Amino acid sequence: MLNSVLHMFFATLETSLFVIGGISAWYILRKRHSDFFALSFKIVLAIAIAVTPLQLYIGHLSGEQVYHYQPTKLAAMEAQWETIPAGESPSWSAIALPNDNAEQNDWEISIPGLLSYILEIKPQLSEPVLGLKEYAPEDRPHQIGLIYYAFRIMIAIGFILAGLMALTVLQWLRGKLAAENIAQQRWLLRAWMFAAPLGYIAVESGWIVRCVGRQPWTVYGEIRTVDAASQIPASNVLTSLSIFAIVYSILFVFALYFASRIIRTGPNFDLPVPGEEVTEELDTTPAEHLPNSRPVEAQQ
Ligand code: HEM
Repeated sequence: MLNSVLHMFFATLETSLFVIGGISAWYILRKRHSDFFALSFKIVLAIAIAVTPLQLYIGHLSGEQVYHYQPTKLAAMEAQWETIPAGESPSWSAIALPNDNAEQNDWEISIPGLLSYILEIKPQLSEPVLGLKEYAPEDRPHQIGLIYYAFRIMIAIGFILAGLMALTVLQWLRGKLAAENIAQQRWLLRAWMFAAPLGYIAVESGWIVRCVGRQPWTVYGEIRTVDAASQIPASNVLTSLSIFAIVYSILFVFALYFASRIIRTGPNFDLPVPGEEVTEELDTTPAEHLPNSRPVEAQQ
């Protein structure tokens, strides 16, 4: 439970960091407000140094948890049809073509000995990895390819973002991120722009792994989704779902439009900094042409 909350918390943080980093990179490349965005870029980087590796580690802990408590989800994430006994050192499937009907992977590229390291950072499995075939079709998830690739996309993005952070820190240490020379790091800044939407894709993939991978259960092993489904007629659900889809699509288009307009306009440095008091200076010098005029304070 704690792992899931932390994994989600760091997912939102990491996604936001790379969006701000990508926007900062865009301004720096266009040489607009370079000082300001070189600073925001470095603030993002300083936080990403902690967040990106932590997210990988917490992701690993989530995987370990699934291995111990949700074996059908793990089998789907790994497209594992046959059981692997404890004590073995199995290979990790890197790319495969899972075939739900034939209950096998039509082809596969795997890396020997890696699965037990991925699951437990150990050379051998402490528990068996139960294969999908151990369960009746109605007791295990379907769409194995979707779960398998969603998991790999999430992991790949986790490593891409951590790698980008490490490369950028290296350039920072070499003094290449100073306000006067940061714009020369064109390939690096472009990579940050490319990375801006990746966090969202990882979040969606993680959600697929968690929720499609959990089927046919709403609460794993306790309540089936079919029993948890409401009694409302399907046509009503379809109507409300369609309305939600339409409203949120419109909101999404407006959000994109206004966000891109704000970004194109750029920050207005003439506005007061939020929270900073705007005090009008009072002219306290006596007006010499008025008789007996006194400073403002003295009159109060
Ligand atoms: C090595 C990298 C990663 C690993 C091993 C990993 C592992 C996992 C696992 C096993 C789950 C399913 C947990 C469950 O069903 O209980 C999960 C879910 C999730 N992951 Fe990852 N993950 C990684 C990277 C990332 C990254 C980079 C992000 C986003 C920036 C991310 C976002 C999510 C989200 C949003 C969920 C769904 C959480 C929920 O619905 O509560 N993951 N991850």
